[in-house]
Amino acid sequence: EKGTYPHYMLKEIDEQPLVIRKIVQAYQNEEGKLTIDYNISEAVSEADRVYIVACGTSYHAGLIGKQFIEKMAKIPVEVHVASEFVYNMPILSEKPLFIFISQSGETADSRAVLVAIKELGYKSLTITNVQGSTLSREADFTMLLHAGPEIAVASTKAYTAQIAVLGILANVVAEFREQQVDFDLVKELGIIATVMEALCDSKEQFEEIAREYLAVTRNCFFIGRSLDYYVGLEGALKLKEISYIQAEGFAGGELKHGTIALIEEGTPIIALSTQNEVNLSIRGNVKEVVARGANPCIITMKGLEEEDDRFVIPEVHELLSPLVSVIPLQLIAYYAALQRECDVDKPRNLAKSVTVE
Ligand code: M6R
Repeated sequence: EKGTYPHYMLKEIDEQPLVIRKIVQAYQNEEGKLTIDYNISEAVSEADRVYIVACGTSYHAGLIGKQFIEKMAKIPVEVHVASEFVYNMPILSEKPLFIFISQSGETADSRAVLVAIKELGYKSLTITNVQGSTLSREADFTMLLHAGPEIAVASTKAYTAQIAVLGILANVVAEFREQQVDFDLVKELGIIATVMEALCDSKEQFEEIAREYLAVTRNCFFIGRSLDYYVGLEGALKLKEISYIQAEGFAGGELKHGTIALIEEGTPIIALSTQNEVNLSIRGNVKEVVARGANPCIITMKGLEEEDDRFVIPEVHELLSPLVSVIPLQLIAYYAALQRECDVDKPRNLAKSVTVE
């Protein structure tokens, strides 16, 4: 039930801090240590390569998951869009492990890949919000998102839940493989939940950004580098699916290779800068588009902020920044859709779970 909320999407955005806390609880043992099924740790640890397969928002979470697994557990990861994987199956490593990420657990494109790799005799783990769903039943292992039912077509709390669960998986597998992780994930996720609350309390500012940048525009671009680029892809998907504004996410460094030709007087550019390593380069990209007339909205993180930045997110651990940096983008998309009088929870042409290939 959406209670006093005007839309499920807004309710689900607001639920994110609680979901993160629930996930931590669900994966903690009595001593407070993060733990997962021993068989999952073993299967992932023994893999020489992990293949993440998913669609849409879940694919975007997979891009972040790759960074977690490579950086913490030190296992190479490939991330694939399910519908493409079936035609162009990559040359697989000797001991692959497949991870299917799916909120619903019913996505037909992902299931087609699961069926194909099972025939080849490979092991699989499904990360899903729905216990007993098709992808969960058919895979060897399941990790649950504990996000509660997600009703709005635009996925929000499932995305952050997927990222958190992938972080927990990477962290536990790192320990299993005796790889050093130099931060305490339980503590960092606690900070994340608090920062998420602060962002959810700043709705008016995101409503204002939507009004200022997106009220009449035909298109909007999201730019970022590294993790911010992946979050930008998700921000663009959110905006296009519910507001029908043509939106694309681009890697900052790719602009000069063609995309910059799209910039016109007043084109809105939402730039994310939450990573110290790429802060200066992305700001350089912002200058390039501003010189061509773009209207920039910089969303940054405490410690990296500059004078004209539009919003400063309180500081969290850099590797985990997607968990919080996506919230401004979710809220901006929500208000843009509302201001343009779109059906936020049930956008045209879309279904909550896509059960046809
Ligand atoms: O249930 P799934 O996670 O497998 O769904 C995958 C996509 O269809 C889904 O994420 C879609 O992109 C959302 N509508 C995005 O908000």
